[in-house]
Amino acid sequence: MNSTGSHLSGVWAQVTGLKVVRGQGCRVYDEHDNAYLDFTAGIAAASTGHCHPKVVQAIAEQATRFVHAQVNVYQHDLLEPVAARLAELTPPSIDTFFFSNSSDEILEAAIKAAKHATRRSSIVTFDGAFHGRTLLTMAMSSSRSIDRDGYGPFPSGVYVAPFPDPHASDQEAEISRALRGLDRLFLTQVAATDVAAIVIEAVIGERGYIPTPAAFIAGIAERCREHGILFVADETQSGFGRTGRMFAIDAHDVEPDIMCMAKGIASGFPFAALGLRRTVDDEWRTGSHGGSSNGTPIGCAAALATIEVLTEPGFLQNVQSRGEQLLDALLDLQQLDDALLHVRGRGLMVATEFDSAERAQAIVEHCLHESNVILMTAGTRKRTIRWMPPLVVSSDEINEAIAAFASAIRATG
Ligand SMILES: Cc1ncc(COP(=O)(O)O)c(C=O)c1O
Repeated sequence: MNSTGSHLSGVWAQVTGLKVVRGQGCRVYDEHDNAYLDFTAGIAAASTGHCHPKVVQAIAEQATRFVHAQVNVYQHDLLEPVAARLAELTPPSIDTFFFSNSSDEILEAAIKAAKHATRRSSIVTFDGAFHGRTLLTMAMSSSRSIDRDGYGPFPSGVYVAPFPDPHASDQEAEISRALRGLDRLFLTQVAATDVAAIVIEAVIGERGYIPTPAAFIAGIAERCREHGILFVADETQSGFGRTGRMFAIDAHDVEPDIMCMAKGIASGFPFAALGLRRTVDDEWRTGSHGGSSNGTPIGCAAALATIEVLTEPGFLQNVQSRGEQLLDALLDLQQLDDALLHVRGRGLMVATEFDSAERAQAIVEHCLHESNVILMTAGTRKRTIRWMPPLVVSSDEINEAIAAFASAIRATG
């Protein structure tokens, strides 16, 4: 027990300090029934909002049929339907699926599959990326050193390539510079023929919601083709409608070999999927990977219900419209405050970058304490406030959050 009488580990950082007892739509409620507008959606996980009725019903019904059905022992009846639905939604190159419970697990699985499929041992990721908190996924992450501090050494064979500076004035030159950096990495640190996979986010999440430039993605895909390297899209944060498309990679003319999906896939219920090109899965040796809780029946039910909601007519259009509403309002506010350096985003994955972490934090706290609006920061320097409301957010709720933000900007300026 700690000095405040809690038996909980102190390792979890706290964004709000709130103790919540229930959630509905875009709001969470504390033990005194105070409502808070949740613009974090559980870090982009509660895609359909808190306790969407269809998701709740699917979970409840499934719980009466099967809580656990171990996939190696027997295959329950929702595994194929989830895989079939994902095959319809993912790019054509992806048509085979493996299920697990968390992003970390699915990233680890992606690397294991890539190593078997290529018989190669090395991985390339990008400066500022975040892929998780297991030892391997930490080795693949470079968004903040606090996530790594004191945990090394990490697994070897992971190489970090440059990512284009989004603020460089000449973007074309900057993208070429970063791609040359990757080519140089192949010349100086790891032979391209030893690289199993290049892992990339189409919108870099934890570094501060930075859309990856199209020309950069195209350059990576070209190098993957040239050297027989697998292109792995980490859609953990950017997938399932978050950017206004089903997947952020859909905005690009590339065919990933592997896709990592989690968070929003099951409205925050622990569930994750690995999408594979059939030829990659063919080389993933049967029996060499798995887990007691792979593809749980309740996770599958939550995923199917979530996908049903996300594919309702007009759903993604609403994400795009609310995203535009949010971006426009934030761009207007930027005129009022020189400290608000950058406003950017895709769909409901939007960032406001300030000139200091202190200012960003002061605004987050003002929104929470004065307006009951929950926001949080991201980014290497923690000076970016990220906007990731549930995808069911209404126009009025966007206005409410903007009003809170505007008043926080005035109060902290
Ligand atoms: C792109 C990406 N990959 C992996 C992860 C790890 O996810 P989790 O913390 O849910 O394991 C995250 C988390 O934010 C992420 O944004």
